Amino acid sequence: MRERTQIGIVGAGPAGLLLSHLLHQQGIHSIIVEARSRAYVESRVRAGVLEQGSVDTLREAGLDARLRREGLVHAGIQIQIEQERHRLDLMELTGGKAITVYGQQEVVKDLIARRLADEGAILFEAEHAAIRGFEGEAPRITFTRAGAEGEIACDFIAGCDGFHGVCRPSIPESAIILYDRIYPFAWLGILAKAPPASEEVIYVNHSRGFALASMRSQEVARLHLQCRPDEDLAEWPAARIWEELHARLRTADGDTVHEGAVLEKGITGMRSFVAEPMRHGRLFLAGDAAHIVPPTGAKGMNLAIADVRVLSRALAAHYRENRSDLIDTYSQTCLKRVWRAEHFSWFMTAMLHNFPSEDGFGRRLQRSQLDYVVSSREAGRSLAENYVGLPFAA
Ligand code: DHB
Repeated sequence: MRERTQIGIVGAGPAGLLLSHLLHQQGIHSIIVEARSRAYVESRVRAGVLEQGSVDTLREAGLDARLRREGLVHAGIQIQIEQERHRLDLMELTGGKAITVYGQQEVVKDLIARRLADEGAILFEAEHAAIRGFEGEAPRITFTRAGAEGEIACDFIAGCDGFHGVCRPSIPESAIILYDRIYPFAWLGILAKAPPASEEVIYVNHSRGFALASMRSQEVARLHLQCRPDEDLAEWPAARIWEELHARLRTADGDTVHEGAVLEKGITGMRSFVAEPMRHGRLFLAGDAAHIVPPTGAKGMNLAIADVRVLSRALAAHYRENRSDLIDTYSQTCLKRVWRAEHFSWFMTAMLHNFPSEDGFGRRLQRSQLDYVVSSREAGRSLAENYVGLPFAA
């Protein structure tokens, strides 16, 4: 199979799918190459918090029909310090902005359905993808699918294939700088058939370790516990998970989590990572292929959406107005937002988790920061502004 398109996209996650849709709206043709099956990408449980700007982007793109019906708009979050909860009123602190809880795989399902309805090309189960020619004028994506070799010739390649994808490592080492930080803990996360612990997301700093209580609906809770990076899931039967969730989430007033059947469990590693620049020749990196944030603060999918918003506009300016300035500033524009989110995610992670090596001095600094955030309007405002997401540059 040999095909030609304007933009060859590697990866059918939120970045690749939304990019393909936004390009289609500008009359630009793309083909997406995805290693996994449609069923797999639609069921992969990931983050679930959309910033105000992400919701606005999906609405402007005509992708918010189900999001409007099923998304849970949250006007605030809770920060729990040991057994005491404090509310940050996001809406009031940001002059009217909120976040929306809507699972990443729901965004992915909506995007796939829409792309296919618009006759968009998504090649699922296209394995062994490789990219070539992007340092010159004739980029190509090669792959194998159903036992046959495939090749897509294109004008530009969008590397939307995640942290473990092939695109970023295809850039010569001398042309890219990688910034990396690994944290000495991970998250054990579950989805449970149980009502949420509270109407709002709760972030807990507890002497037993961080915990997070979120939700996917009024019937499904999403819950996380700080654990060791090498934690063995087999050592965490449901009863132990619930016991630990109660121990960390219970308040002095006796509020805790509601138990229910565990539908899914997994361990998420924690790292910060940025590749600079996000473009090399005719290859653009977007989303997790270019940067990773630790999940605290839920910025990952929002950054992916912000990247492809910038990229779709840059490519539209190229094709429609023969302008290359937005292509040339793509990396710089994205990295400004990326580094702000990197700082915020690192800040939330550092403020809320137990660091095993931390001494008494470190713990007291952390406690002082927590007290400051929940008691100072200005500190709360800064957290809220970042949490709901800063405005887009353009
Ligand atoms: C969720 C995930 C996060 O990383 C977070 O900070 C808040 C909520 C969630 O999956 O619901």
